[in-house]
Amino acid sequence: MENVCRYDGQYTCDWDQMLAQRAEGMKSSVIRELLKVTLQPDVISFAGGLPAPELFPIREFKEACSHVLTYHGESALQYGPTEGYPPLREFLAETMQRYGVPAEPPNVLLTNGSQQALDLIGKVFLDPGATIITGSPTYLGAIQAWNGYQARYVTVPLDDEGMQVDRLEDALKHEDVRFIYVLPNFHNPAGTTLTRERRVRLAELAAEHGVFIVEDDPYGELRFEGEDIIPIAALHKENTIYLSTFSKTLAPGMRLGWLVAPEQVTAKLVQAKQGADLHTSPLVQMIVNDICQRGFLKVHVRRLRDAYRERRDAMLEAMEHHFPEGTSWTRPEGGLFLWVRLPEGFDSSDFLQRAVAEEKVAFVPGSAFYPNGGGSNTLRLNFSNAQPDKIREGIARLGSAIKKDLARR
Ligand SMILES: Cc1ncc(COP(=O)(O)O)c(C=O)c1O
Repeated sequence: MENVCRYDGQYTCDWDQMLAQRAEGMKSSVIRELLKVTLQPDVISFAGGLPAPELFPIREFKEACSHVLTYHGESALQYGPTEGYPPLREFLAETMQRYGVPAEPPNVLLTNGSQQALDLIGKVFLDPGATIITGSPTYLGAIQAWNGYQARYVTVPLDDEGMQVDRLEDALKHEDVRFIYVLPNFHNPAGTTLTRERRVRLAELAAEHGVFIVEDDPYGELRFEGEDIIPIAALHKENTIYLSTFSKTLAPGMRLGWLVAPEQVTAKLVQAKQGADLHTSPLVQMIVNDICQRGFLKVHVRRLRDAYRERRDAMLEAMEHHFPEGTSWTRPEGGLFLWVRLPEGFDSSDFLQRAVAEEKVAFVPGSAFYPNGGGSNTLRLNFSNAQPDKIREGIARLGSAIKKDLARR
């Protein structure tokens, strides 16, 4: 066999030959690339999924950090168990029980953000070509994680009440499905929430067909109005892997998330994590545990809900004012995002270049969230990262850019 790299004064490699087949499916996230453009100071960006940095509880982090290092410094800086810091596992198991999920510490695994949980699930459940059912649109980071395991996607459309569960049955009958991936609360990107009725039906269908559910719930705590709805993990206990994270309630830079799964599944995911990174930082887990045990998380989440509600309202109000007829959007009851549908034929990827160049406003084109293509007349807006005045200004610019584009056609 010919060498894939040659040296004649310098190395030249045939990368296509060099890399594993699965690397072909790995693509750079549109959002991560976009974030670079939107860092220009005069651009108002609704593109990232960033929490409000001015609300990060820096003082509380400092206090917790100092407390942990003063009293538990040696264990905080030592290697730790893969499963996670035991008091935090216990705290999370109790928290999940309050939501009706029968979790005990052996069901819980601390992860390096929920993103790592998605990757570990791929590692453990997906052979090349394995089928996942997901809503369309769906979370881009999940597609990124599972493309690396050469997954196939069967998609089910969403409406204002989330995934259209009644359309699942056909796929479940005809496909050999590894799991159904669901974003129950304040969907990223669509902003929708799956109704209780649909959760019950989904749990029934999954049980009937012996299929796992991956319930990805980073935003559930950020409900601004309405009642909490029972997690799917409380309905379909034996076959659900529930994921959540401290990224949206405390700070994404901590890179701390958790999953809850049946004990055997958690044990397998622990083995996968051992190969990935041995364990999540004990220092980070102990700091977050300190913050949680003091009861501060609850207080802080209330503050976030108030701030994000105000920002969502500012965005919705400005859209009513500035967006042209023929556009429609979701009205999320929580979370960080809303979803806009533009007239048929509109190409939001193309439009993004003009919106940034001419009106200095950015968003994520919706097609990025469709694993099998489509959605070119949609876009995602984030409302958590800008103050209400900036939101109003940005939406006025975006409305003007849309009108200009429609007039050009
Ligand atoms: C639906 C969803 N899942 C998972 C993640 C990953 O979050 P984390 O920061 O915990 O890795 C995100 C982040 O935006 C998300 O929106």
